[in-house]
Amino acid sequence: TPTALLALLLSYLIGAVPAAAWLARTRGVDIRKVGSGNSGATNVLRSLGKGPALAVAVFDILKGVLAVLLARTLGLSEGWAALCGLLAVIGHNFSPFLGFRGGKGVATSFGVIAILDPVIGLVAFVLAIACMWLTRFVSAGSIMGAFIVAALVLVLPRPDWDRAAVLFLAALLVWQHRENVRKLQAGTERRLGEKVS
Ligand code: G3P
Repeated sequence: TPTALLALLLSYLIGAVPAAAWLARTRGVDIRKVGSGNSGATNVLRSLGKGPALAVAVFDILKGVLAVLLARTLGLSEGWAALCGLLAVIGHNFSPFLGFRGGKGVATSFGVIAILDPVIGLVAFVLAIACMWLTRFVSAGSIMGAFIVAALVLVLPRPDWDRAAVLFLAALLVWQHRENVRKLQAGTERRLGEKVS
């Protein structure tokens, strides 16, 4: 339907707003050239500090929330709402404002899952934060969060469209972290709290 297509397009554009890259640019930093080069809150934490990182994390989470709520507001079904959430994450990871590159979709996926499946979102959030805290690797916590979300959505009684959307988000998140996985194996991954300039 035209409404659904409009919602998908808007969701992609909402997700595509590169908060990390644009905020860093206002501070004279090219986020693609510092730290991991990733346009996300973790890399903003490394290069600009806690305040800007929190702002980026909240903004990126809200992009996912907004895409799902937009679909619902337009009267679309929950299946379309989930698809809009996916499009927001794809917009974030492959943003036309960054030459179809972007972030890894951790915060935006969390926003989508928190709205679609609040219980799964909350459990994964708590365990992922614990993992980040214990290992001092944000990437390890993010990847573990994706596996937890995938396991929960398979085990709990959920509609098929919800399972498909959440499993896709989890798989995409892990794929986007392939460089981090290589660095974790090589022992060169940056720890939480390591600063770059
Ligand atoms: O924010 C994504 C996080 O899981 C990893 O980010 O910059 O360490 O590659 P980064």
